[in-house]
Amino acid sequence: MNILILQASPKANGNTAWMAEEYKKAAEAAGHQVTLVNVSRKKIAGCLACEYCHNKGNGACIQRDDMQELYPLMAEAEVLVLAAPIYYFTLCAQIQAPIQRMYCVNAPAKVKKMALLMSSYSPGVYTGATAEYHDICNYWHVEDSGIVTAKIDEQKTDDTKQKIQALVSNL
Ligand SMILES: Cc1cc2nc3c(=O)[nH]c(=O)nc-3n(C[C@H](O)[C@H](O)[C@H](O)COP(=O)(O)O)c2cc1C
Repeated sequence: MNILILQASPKANGNTAWMAEEYKKAAEAAGHQVTLVNVSRKKIAGCLACEYCHNKGNGACIQRDDMQELYPLMAEAEVLVLAAPIYYFTLCAQIQAPIQRMYCVNAPAKVKKMALLMSSYSPGVYTGATAEYHDICNYWHVEDSGIVTAKIDEQKTDDTKQKIQALVSNL
């Protein structure tokens, strides 16, 4: 399958980046085609709610920023993996912007399954992010292939690696 991973942590060697890499390695080993994008390094603004896309734009966003690179990747992806740290009890802003900029096309055309990788310092901080993710899966009519979380003592461990490998097996 064609898999797109959006990695949203600004820390290049942080835990979220590690989780995204482990997913990529496991998916490639299973024969999938994987594209990993570090969206934290992209300039992606929030949606302007200008409705250009739903009128004159005919599905195209009026904003000319790095989201233009992501639209074709989103259009071709069959599996979408979101990898994000928890900031203030929710998914970090760097992942929210690209999700909300999908407003112009409503849903990624070919995505059938999604997965969510999250890291945090504390336990018990994933409720809001998990609810948002499940609502998006339902709204886009895609199957949730699973969630892996890693709080401070679970980061870069063999146990977390195995949970990520199990997610790939769910595809
Ligand atoms: C702005 C900011 C807000 C954070 N908010 C939370 C939080 O609400 N709960 C929590 O457990 N950790 C919080 N953290 C810690 C990160 O989620 C944690 O360090 C995570 O592992 C970072 O992942 P990374 O190494 O991929 O960047 C926050 C960190 C930052 C920088």
